[in-house]
Amino acid sequence: MSDVHGLKKAKELGIRLGEVGGRIVLENEHVRIWEVKVEPGESIDFHIHYHPYAVVSIEGGENEVETIFGDTRATFEPAGATVFIDGMRPVHRLTNKSDVTYLSRLIELKHITWTPEEAPLPTAETPKPTETPAAAAPALSADAMAAFKEILIQTGDLDWAAKSLAGLSQKMLWRNEETGASIGLVRFEKGAGVPEAHAHASNQFMFCLEGKYRYIPTGTTLTPGCFYWNPKGSVHGPTIAEETSILLEIYDGPHYPVRPSWYTNDEDAH
Ligand SMILES: [Fe+2]
Ligand SMILES: [Fe+2]
Repeated sequence: MSDVHGLKKAKELGIRLGEVGGRIVLENEHVRIWEVKVEPGESIDFHIHYHPYAVVSIEGGENEVETIFGDTRATFEPAGATVFIDGMRPVHRLTNKSDVTYLSRLIELKHITWTPEEAPLPTAETPKPTETPAAAAPALSADAMAAFKEILIQTGDLDWAAKSLAGLSQKMLWRNEETGASIGLVRFEKGAGVPEAHAHASNQFMFCLEGKYRYIPTGTTLTPGCFYWNPKGSVHGPTIAEETSILLEIYDGPHYPVRPSWYTNDEDAH
């Protein structure tokens, strides 16, 4: 029997699960809204969610999610950030890794109640290992396997969405709202570019499909077939597209530590 949701594991470890939030601020037949408040360095109890839910960050947001299996993942949810979870994640807890209070509202949607044996895993979340040895029969139940979906996007069918930097547009292909990681196509019109030196809050990877895209201070120039990567925190730019350029761009976490000056809205900085 697989244990993708970690309930068996929690029991084996003698961990009593807590609530998904600190206190209920509103409840009716449709929703249950929790306050989640975590002081710097503190953790909330291990818990599991039985309903789909949205989280709206109010304050803080640099946390770590730790599953009962010991996997950890940094989250970045500045005030106003929203996350929606559509499947049953393994038992987990949240630790505030910043020096400010984390405060959010967690809104459970009561019209769906998951049972661990049948619940889907969340979209874009990898199932966690089970106790089954690697050499044994498949570790995931049929239900868990059914949670995997193939998704095909014909990028030619998508429209370019203009961003608030002149000459830049994108086609977002995949995004993990929880971690901020993303994969998208970006297009710089000839003469456009990122106007200032900057650093990213995660590793950035680009594959040039068309054009000629140059990092001005170093002269590093991407042409079709070039793969570029830029480690988290390294300062680079400004840049210029010497020809209209199309790049497949991948971030393994949030794009920027704070919204850069050349964007006029937060959405463009994601
Ligand atoms: Fe949670
Ligand atoms: Fe950059």
